[in-house]
Amino acid sequence: MDAPSTRAGLAPRAIALPASPIRALLNARSGEGTLDLGGGHPEPRLFPAEALSQAAARLFHDERAIALQYGSTEGLHPLRAWIADRLRRRGFDVLTEQILITQGSQHALSTVTQVLGSPNQLALLEQPGYPGALQALALAECNVDALPVNDEGWDLTVLAHSTPNLVYVIPHYQNPTGRCATHSQKQALAACASQQGFFVVEDDVYGELGFDGNNHRPLIADCPERGILLGSFSKTLCPGLRLGYIAAPLELLPPLVKTLQATALQPGTFAQHLAMELLTHFDYDAHLQRLRQFYQQRAQALSSRCRELGLSLTSPEGGLFLWVTTPAAASVTAQHAAEQGLLSVPESAFRAPGLHGPDRHLRLAFSRYKDNAESRRKLSHALDARNVL
Ligand SMILES: Cc1ncc(COP(=O)(O)O)c(C=O)c1O
Repeated sequence: MDAPSTRAGLAPRAIALPASPIRALLNARSGEGTLDLGGGHPEPRLFPAEALSQAAARLFHDERAIALQYGSTEGLHPLRAWIADRLRRRGFDVLTEQILITQGSQHALSTVTQVLGSPNQLALLEQPGYPGALQALALAECNVDALPVNDEGWDLTVLAHSTPNLVYVIPHYQNPTGRCATHSQKQALAACASQQGFFVVEDDVYGELGFDGNNHRPLIADCPERGILLGSFSKTLCPGLRLGYIAAPLELLPPLVKTLQATALQPGTFAQHLAMELLTHFDYDAHLQRLRQFYQQRAQALSSRCRELGLSLTSPEGGLFLWVTTPAAASVTAQHAAEQGLLSVPESAFRAPGLHGPDRHLRLAFSRYKDNAESRRKLSHALDARNVL
Protein backbone atom coordinates (compact mmCIF):
# COMPACT_ATOMS: atom_id res chain seq x y z
CA MET A 1 0.00 0.00 0.00
CA ASP A 2 1.25 3.53 -0.78
CA ALA A 3 2.52 5.66 2.07
CA PRO A 4 0.00 8.43 2.88
CA SER A 5 2.30 11.11 1.43
CA THR A 6 2.23 9.52 -2.02
CA ARG A 7 -1.34 8.20 -2.12
CA ALA A 8 -2.71 8.79 -5.61
CA GLY A 9 -5.68 11.08 -5.98
CA LEU A 10 -5.28 13.03 -2.75
CA ALA A 11 -4.29 16.68 -2.65
CA PRO A 12 -0.76 17.06 -1.25
CA ARG A 13 -1.94 20.01 0.89
CA ALA A 14 -4.52 17.79 2.63
CA ILE A 15 -1.92 15.12 3.31
CA ALA A 16 0.65 17.65 4.52
CA LEU A 17 -1.84 19.45 6.78
CA PRO A 18 -0.61 19.31 10.39
CA ALA A 19 -3.11 17.93 12.90
CA SER A 20 -3.92 20.07 15.92
CA PRO A 21 -1.33 19.03 18.52
CA ILE A 22 -3.61 20.21 21.30
CA ARG A 23 -6.65 18.23 20.19
CA ALA A 24 -4.48 15.12 19.72
CA LEU A 25 -3.00 15.51 23.19
CA LEU A 26 -6.31 16.08 24.89
CA ASN A 27 -8.15 13.31 23.02
CA ALA A 28 -5.46 10.83 23.98
CA ARG A 29 -5.31 11.75 27.63
CA SER A 30 -8.59 13.11 28.92
CA GLY A 31 -10.75 10.85 31.03
CA GLU A 32 -12.58 10.40 34.29
CA GLY A 33 -10.76 12.03 37.20
CA THR A 34 -8.37 14.03 35.00
CA LEU A 35 -7.71 17.66 35.92
CA ASP A 36 -8.05 19.08 32.43
CA LEU A 37 -6.24 22.42 32.15
CA GLY A 38 -5.29 21.69 28.55
CA GLY A 39 -7.99 23.04 26.24
CA GLY A 40 -9.23 26.64 26.22
CA HIS A 41 -12.72 25.57 27.18
CA PRO A 42 -14.99 28.08 28.88
CA GLU A 43 -16.58 27.12 32.19
CA PRO A 44 -19.99 25.52 31.40
CA ARG A 45 -21.56 27.18 34.45
CA LEU A 46 -21.13 30.49 32.64
CA PHE A 47 -23.11 29.44 29.58
CA PRO A 48 -26.31 31.51 29.52
CA ALA A 49 -28.30 28.29 29.22
CA GLU A 50 -31.57 29.52 30.77
CA ALA A 51 -31.67 32.69 28.64
CA LEU A 52 -30.82 30.63 25.55
CA SER A 53 -33.56 28.17 26.27
CA GLN A 54 -36.13 30.99 26.62
CA ALA A 55 -34.84 32.55 23.40
CA ALA A 56 -35.13 29.19 21.62
CA ALA A 57 -38.71 28.73 22.88
CA ARG A 58 -39.67 32.17 21.55
CA LEU A 59 -38.07 31.39 18.19
CA PHE A 60 -39.84 28.05 17.84
CA HIS A 61 -43.12 29.69 18.75
CA ASP A 62 -42.95 32.94 16.80
CA GLU A 63 -40.17 32.80 14.20
CA ARG A 64 -39.76 29.22 13.10
CA ALA A 65 -40.40 29.94 9.42
CA ILE A 66 -37.41 32.30 9.36
CA ALA A 67 -35.16 30.87 12.06
CA LEU A 68 -35.18 27.37 10.54
CA GLN A 69 -34.88 28.54 6.92
CA TYR A 70 -31.85 29.24 4.70
CA GLY A 71 -30.37 32.69 5.19
CA SER A 72 -27.88 35.00 3.51
CA THR A 73 -24.18 34.20 3.16
CA GLU A 74 -23.19 37.47 4.83
CA GLY A 75 -25.24 36.65 7.93
CA LEU A 76 -28.18 38.08 9.83
CA HIS A 77 -28.24 41.84 9.35
CA PRO A 78 -29.25 42.81 12.93
CA LEU A 79 -26.49 40.60 14.33
CA ARG A 80 -23.95 42.20 11.99
CA ALA A 81 -25.19 45.62 13.09
CA TRP A 82 -24.90 44.63 16.78
CA ILE A 83 -21.28 43.51 16.25
CA ALA A 84 -20.37 46.64 14.27
CA ASP A 85 -21.83 48.80 17.02
CA ARG A 86 -19.75 47.05 19.71
CA LEU A 87 -16.57 47.40 17.65
CA ARG A 88 -17.31 51.10 17.10
CA ARG A 89 -17.66 51.51 20.87
CA ARG A 90 -14.14 50.08 21.16
CA GLY A 91 -12.81 52.74 18.79
CA PHE A 92 -12.89 50.86 15.47
CA ASP A 93 -14.91 52.78 12.90
CA VAL A 94 -16.60 49.97 10.97
CA LEU A 95 -19.83 49.66 8.95
CA THR A 96 -22.40 46.89 9.37
CA GLU A 97 -21.68 45.90 5.73
CA GLN A 98 -18.07 45.14 6.67
CA ILE A 99 -19.13 42.40 9.09
CA LEU A 100 -19.58 38.81 7.89
CA ILE A 101 -20.89 36.11 10.21
CA THR A 102 -19.06 32.77 10.28
CA GLN A 103 -19.29 29.43 12.05
CA GLY A 104 -16.82 30.39 14.77
CA SER A 105 -13.59 32.33 14.45
CA GLN A 106 -11.62 29.32 13.19
CA HIS A 107 -13.94 29.36 10.17
CA ALA A 108 -13.37 33.11 9.92
CA LEU A 109 -9.62 32.52 9.96
CA SER A 110 -9.62 29.78 7.34
CA THR A 111 -11.87 31.90 5.09
CA VAL A 112 -9.52 34.87 5.37
CA THR A 113 -6.41 32.76 4.74
CA GLN A 114 -8.08 31.21 1.68
CA VAL A 115 -8.60 34.72 0.29
CA LEU A 116 -5.26 36.28 1.28
CA GLY A 117 -2.87 33.36 1.18
CA SER A 118 -1.42 31.80 -1.96
CA PRO A 119 1.08 28.98 -2.37
CA ASN A 120 4.55 30.11 -1.35
CA GLN A 121 3.46 33.53 -0.15
CA LEU A 122 4.94 34.47 3.19
CA ALA A 123 2.78 34.67 6.31
CA LEU A 124 4.18 35.62 9.71
CA LEU A 125 2.71 33.87 12.69
CA GLU A 126 3.34 34.64 16.36
CA GLN A 127 5.71 32.07 17.88
CA PRO A 128 4.68 30.73 20.25
CA GLY A 129 1.26 31.05 18.64
CA TYR A 130 -2.16 29.58 18.04
CA PRO A 131 -1.86 26.19 16.25
CA GLY A 132 -5.24 26.68 14.53
CA ALA A 133 -3.69 29.60 12.62
CA LEU A 134 -0.88 27.37 11.47
CA GLN A 135 -3.40 24.84 10.16
CA ALA A 136 -5.36 27.52 8.29
CA LEU A 137 -2.17 28.91 6.71
CA ALA A 138 -1.01 25.40 5.80
CA LEU A 139 -4.33 24.75 4.05
CA ALA A 140 -3.77 27.93 2.03
CA GLU A 141 -0.26 26.58 1.24
CA CYS A 142 1.48 29.68 2.60
CA ASN A 143 5.09 29.70 3.72
CA VAL A 144 5.04 30.37 7.43
CA ASP A 145 7.75 32.18 9.33
CA ALA A 146 7.93 33.37 12.91
CA LEU A 147 6.94 36.67 14.42
CA PRO A 148 8.74 36.01 17.72
CA VAL A 149 6.89 36.81 20.94
CA ASN A 150 9.10 37.40 23.97
CA ASP A 151 8.65 39.08 27.37
CA GLU A 152 8.76 42.49 25.68
CA GLY A 153 6.13 41.51 23.11
CA TRP A 154 6.46 41.14 19.34
CA ASP A 155 9.92 41.35 17.84
CA LEU A 156 9.02 43.62 14.93
CA THR A 157 12.62 43.81 13.72
CA VAL A 158 11.80 40.74 11.55
CA LEU A 159 9.74 43.07 9.36
CA ALA A 160 12.90 44.94 8.38
CA HIS A 161 14.11 41.98 6.32
CA SER A 162 10.97 40.13 5.25
CA THR A 163 8.06 40.99 3.01
CA PRO A 164 5.04 39.07 4.25
CA ASN A 165 1.67 39.18 2.60
CA LEU A 166 -0.06 38.57 5.90
CA VAL A 167 0.78 38.86 9.60
CA TYR A 168 -1.45 37.02 12.09
CA VAL A 169 -1.53 38.31 15.68
CA ILE A 170 -3.58 38.09 18.89
CA PRO A 171 -2.92 41.50 20.47
CA HIS A 172 -5.10 40.95 23.56
CA TYR A 173 -4.61 38.03 26.01
CA GLN A 174 -2.66 36.05 23.48
CA ASN A 175 -3.01 32.30 23.14
CA PRO A 176 -0.82 30.83 24.61
CA THR A 177 1.12 33.46 26.61
CA GLY A 178 -1.85 35.51 27.88
CA ARG A 179 0.06 38.72 27.18
CA CYS A 180 -1.32 41.95 25.72
CA ALA A 181 0.57 44.03 23.19
CA THR A 182 1.29 47.57 24.35
CA HIS A 183 -0.33 50.55 22.67
CA SER A 184 2.95 51.50 21.00
CA GLN A 185 3.53 47.95 19.69
CA LYS A 186 0.06 47.92 18.18
CA GLN A 187 0.65 51.29 16.58
CA ALA A 188 4.05 50.18 15.25
CA LEU A 189 2.62 47.03 13.63
CA ALA A 190 -0.30 48.98 12.14
CA ALA A 191 2.14 51.54 10.71
CA CYS A 192 4.28 48.78 9.15
CA ALA A 193 1.16 47.22 7.59
CA SER A 194 0.16 50.54 6.00
CA GLN A 195 3.70 51.32 4.81
CA GLN A 196 4.71 47.86 3.58
CA GLY A 197 1.25 46.91 2.32
CA PHE A 198 0.74 43.60 4.11
CA PHE A 199 -2.52 42.55 5.78
CA VAL A 200 -2.76 42.26 9.57
CA VAL A 201 -5.15 39.54 10.67
CA GLU A 202 -6.13 40.40 14.24
CA ASP A 203 -7.61 37.50 16.17
CA ASP A 204 -9.78 39.11 18.84
CA VAL A 205 -11.24 35.97 20.43
CA TYR A 206 -10.16 37.04 23.94
CA GLY A 207 -10.43 40.82 23.45
CA GLU A 208 -13.42 41.29 25.77
CA LEU A 209 -12.06 39.06 28.54
CA GLY A 210 -9.86 41.59 30.37
CA PHE A 211 -10.43 41.31 34.12
CA ASP A 212 -10.44 45.10 34.47
CA GLY A 213 -13.23 45.42 31.88
CA ASN A 214 -10.87 47.27 29.52
CA ASN A 215 -12.50 47.60 26.12
CA HIS A 216 -9.32 47.35 24.10
CA ARG A 217 -9.15 49.36 20.92
CA PRO A 218 -8.50 46.91 18.08
CA LEU A 219 -5.05 47.19 16.50
CA ILE A 220 -6.55 47.35 13.03
CA ALA A 221 -8.39 50.57 13.92
CA ASP A 222 -5.03 52.17 12.99
CA CYS A 223 -4.71 50.43 9.59
CA PRO A 224 -8.34 49.79 8.57
CA GLU A 225 -7.49 49.45 4.87
CA ARG A 226 -4.99 46.66 5.64
CA GLY A 227 -6.64 45.11 8.70
CA ILE A 228 -9.02 42.21 9.23
CA LEU A 229 -10.47 41.38 12.63
CA LEU A 230 -11.73 37.93 13.63
CA GLY A 231 -14.19 37.64 16.51
CA SER A 232 -16.17 34.95 18.27
CA PHE A 233 -19.02 34.29 20.69
CA SER A 234 -17.33 31.04 21.76
CA LYS A 235 -15.62 32.35 24.87
CA THR A 236 -18.27 34.87 25.89
CA LEU A 237 -21.53 32.96 25.23
CA CYS A 238 -20.70 29.33 24.37
CA PRO A 239 -18.60 27.53 21.73
CA GLY A 240 -21.37 25.11 20.77
CA LEU A 241 -23.24 27.91 18.99
CA ARG A 242 -20.38 28.08 16.47
CA LEU A 243 -20.72 31.78 15.83
CA GLY A 244 -17.90 34.10 14.91
CA TYR A 245 -17.31 36.97 12.51
CA ILE A 246 -14.95 38.78 10.17
CA ALA A 247 -14.60 42.56 10.00
CA ALA A 248 -12.86 43.38 6.72
CA PRO A 249 -12.22 46.31 4.36
CA LEU A 250 -15.07 46.73 1.85
CA GLU A 251 -12.95 45.70 -1.15
CA LEU A 252 -12.24 42.30 0.39
CA LEU A 253 -15.92 41.47 0.83
CA PRO A 254 -16.66 40.01 -2.65
CA PRO A 255 -13.90 37.34 -2.49
CA LEU A 256 -14.67 36.63 1.17
CA VAL A 257 -18.39 36.18 0.46
CA LYS A 258 -17.69 33.91 -2.54
CA THR A 259 -15.34 31.82 -0.40
CA LEU A 260 -17.98 31.54 2.31
CA GLN A 261 -20.51 30.48 -0.32
CA ALA A 262 -18.15 27.85 -1.65
CA THR A 263 -17.23 26.43 1.74
CA ALA A 264 -20.37 26.67 3.86
CA LEU A 265 -23.09 28.46 1.86
CA GLN A 266 -24.02 30.47 4.96
CA PRO A 267 -23.67 30.48 8.75
CA GLY A 268 -26.33 28.54 10.67
CA THR A 269 -29.60 30.47 10.60
CA PHE A 270 -30.85 29.09 13.89
CA ALA A 271 -27.66 29.87 15.82
CA GLN A 272 -27.72 33.44 14.53
CA HIS A 273 -31.37 34.03 15.39
CA LEU A 274 -30.81 32.45 18.78
CA ALA A 275 -27.85 34.74 19.51
CA MET A 276 -29.75 37.81 18.29
CA GLU A 277 -32.84 36.95 20.32
CA LEU A 278 -30.64 36.43 23.36
CA LEU A 279 -28.69 39.66 22.90
CA THR A 280 -31.94 41.63 22.54
CA HIS A 281 -33.41 40.37 25.82
CA PHE A 282 -30.33 39.95 27.96
CA ASP A 283 -27.73 42.23 29.53
CA TYR A 284 -24.60 41.11 27.68
CA ASP A 285 -22.38 43.61 29.50
CA ALA A 286 -23.53 42.38 32.90
CA HIS A 287 -22.91 38.81 31.70
CA LEU A 288 -19.37 39.77 30.59
CA GLN A 289 -18.75 41.40 33.95
CA ARG A 290 -19.75 38.20 35.80
CA LEU A 291 -17.58 36.14 33.51
CA ARG A 292 -14.53 38.37 34.02
CA GLN A 293 -14.87 38.26 37.81
CA PHE A 294 -15.31 34.50 37.78
CA TYR A 295 -12.23 33.94 35.60
CA GLN A 296 -10.17 36.42 37.60
CA GLN A 297 -10.84 34.41 40.76
CA ARG A 298 -9.87 31.19 39.03
CA ALA A 299 -6.73 32.78 37.57
CA GLN A 300 -5.71 34.07 40.99
CA ALA A 301 -6.31 30.70 42.65
CA LEU A 302 -4.32 28.76 40.06
CA SER A 303 -1.51 31.36 40.01
CA SER A 304 -1.16 31.12 43.80
CA ARG A 305 -1.01 27.34 43.69
CA CYS A 306 1.65 27.40 40.96
CA ARG A 307 3.75 29.90 42.91
CA GLU A 308 3.49 27.74 46.03
CA LEU A 309 5.01 24.94 43.93
CA GLY A 310 7.95 27.17 43.05
CA LEU A 311 6.85 27.90 39.47
CA SER A 312 7.14 31.39 38.06
CA LEU A 313 4.58 33.15 35.93
CA THR A 314 3.30 36.58 35.01
CA SER A 315 -0.03 37.33 36.63
CA PRO A 316 -2.68 37.11 33.92
CA GLU A 317 -4.88 40.14 33.29
CA GLY A 318 -7.52 38.41 31.20
CA GLY A 319 -8.18 35.65 28.69
CA LEU A 320 -8.19 32.01 29.74
CA PHE A 321 -4.54 31.01 30.14
CA LEU A 322 -1.57 30.99 32.53
CA TRP A 323 1.88 30.75 30.94
CA VAL A 324 4.03 29.04 33.50
CA THR A 325 7.82 28.76 33.36
CA THR A 326 8.97 25.21 34.03
CA PRO A 327 12.31 24.24 35.56
CA ALA A 328 12.68 21.21 33.25
CA ALA A 329 11.80 20.98 29.54
CA ALA A 330 8.08 21.74 29.28
CA SER A 331 7.33 18.67 27.15
CA VAL A 332 8.89 16.44 29.84
CA THR A 333 6.91 18.26 32.54
CA ALA A 334 3.66 17.96 30.54
CA GLN A 335 4.26 14.24 30.02
CA HIS A 336 4.92 13.72 33.74
CA ALA A 337 1.85 15.85 34.60
CA ALA A 338 -0.36 13.78 32.27
CA GLU A 339 0.80 10.60 33.99
CA GLN A 340 -0.31 12.19 37.28
CA GLY A 341 -3.72 13.06 35.80
CA LEU A 342 -3.19 16.74 34.93
CA LEU A 343 -3.50 17.94 31.33
CA SER A 344 -1.49 20.94 30.18
CA VAL A 345 0.02 22.00 26.86
CA PRO A 346 3.81 22.45 26.46
CA GLU A 347 5.35 25.35 24.59
CA SER A 348 6.46 23.06 21.74
CA ALA A 349 2.80 22.58 20.72
CA PHE A 350 2.65 26.29 19.86
CA ARG A 351 5.52 26.23 17.37
CA ALA A 352 5.33 25.67 13.65
CA PRO A 353 7.28 22.61 12.48
CA GLY A 354 10.81 23.63 11.61
CA LEU A 355 10.72 26.81 13.70
CA HIS A 356 12.88 26.29 16.73
CA GLY A 357 12.58 27.99 20.09
CA PRO A 358 12.61 27.38 23.81
CA ASP A 359 10.48 24.70 25.48
CA ARG A 360 10.30 26.20 28.97
CA HIS A 361 6.61 27.02 29.38
CA LEU A 362 3.36 25.23 29.98
CA ARG A 363 -0.02 26.65 29.08
CA LEU A 364 -2.60 26.03 31.80
CA ALA A 365 -6.21 27.00 31.18
CA PHE A 366 -7.50 28.48 34.44
CA SER A 367 -11.04 28.66 33.07
CA ARG A 368 -11.98 25.23 34.40
CA TYR A 369 -9.72 25.14 37.48
CA LYS A 370 -11.70 24.42 40.65
CA ASP A 371 -9.52 25.13 43.66
CA ASN A 372 -10.32 22.16 45.90
CA ALA A 373 -8.22 19.62 47.78
CA GLU A 374 -8.22 17.12 44.92
CA SER A 375 -7.04 19.72 42.37
CA ARG A 376 -4.33 20.92 44.73
CA ARG A 377 -3.14 17.36 45.28
CA LYS A 378 -2.99 16.72 41.52
CA LEU A 379 -1.18 19.99 40.86
CA SER A 380 1.37 19.22 43.51
CA HIS A 381 2.07 15.69 42.20
CA ALA A 382 2.20 16.90 38.63
CA LEU A 383 4.06 20.18 38.81
CA ASP A 384 6.14 20.34 41.95
CA ALA A 385 9.68 20.78 40.61
CA ARG A 386 11.03 18.21 43.07
CA ASN A 387 8.77 15.54 41.59
CA VAL A 388 9.54 16.34 37.96
CA LEU A 389 13.31 16.63 38.04
C1 LIG B 1 -6.76 32.37 19.31
C2 LIG B 1 -7.94 31.57 18.93
N1 LIG B 1 -8.54 31.81 17.77
C3 LIG B 1 -9.60 31.11 17.38
C4 LIG B 1 -10.12 30.09 18.16
C5 LIG B 1 -11.30 29.33 17.66
O1 LIG B 1 -12.47 29.76 18.28
P1 LIG B 1 -13.91 29.48 17.70
O2 LIG B 1 -14.59 28.60 18.68
O3 LIG B 1 -14.56 30.83 17.62
O4 LIG B 1 -13.78 28.86 16.35
C6 LIG B 1 -9.53 29.80 19.39
C7 LIG B 1 -10.05 28.72 20.22
O5 LIG B 1 -9.59 28.39 21.28
C8 LIG B 1 -8.40 30.56 19.78
O6 LIG B 1 -7.76 30.33 20.94
